Amino acid sequence: RSLLILNGPNLNMLGTRQPEVYGGTTLAQIEDACAKFASSFGISVSFEQSNHEGTLVDIIQASKGVHDGIVFNAGAYTHTSLALHDAIASVEIPTIELHLSNVHAREPFRHHSYLAPVSIGLICGFGANGYTLAMTAMHQHLEGGV
Ligand code: DQA
Repeated sequence: RSLLILNGPNLNMLGTRQPEVYGGTTLAQIEDACAKFASSFGISVSFEQSNHEGTLVDIIQASKGVHDGIVFNAGAYTHTSLALHDAIASVEIPTIELHLSNVHAREPFRHHSYLAPVSIGLICGFGANGYTLAMTAMHQHLEGGV
């Protein structure tokens, strides 16, 4: 099994970016925790981050036949990007939408998601822990669960 942890715009700034909203953990620390978690499950994990919508589309397209699941924090593109919606729909790789913050407890413009209709589920509000929660959920989804 191979998972992709994909992060969109401004998530490279985690740790210093509005820590009262997103916490003090850096993206490198999150990726490190995910790598350790993956090895405990015996799965492989890859990491990508881009601030550019088209690059994220390219990364999703290139995942077809390579990754079995995608954990995707699309940042603000969640709320704006039909192109990312279409990219996920086209590759037919199970995708979990992820946010560190509870977007539904925030401004109304964060309540709509273009990714939700093409995701198998959504994890939000658990900060940096959301990434390993999403990996667990994806693993159980792929293995068939109970
Ligand atoms: C975010 C929530 C988005 O609304 C915001 O634009 C982000 C981060 C989160 O992880 O909580 O960039 O995806």
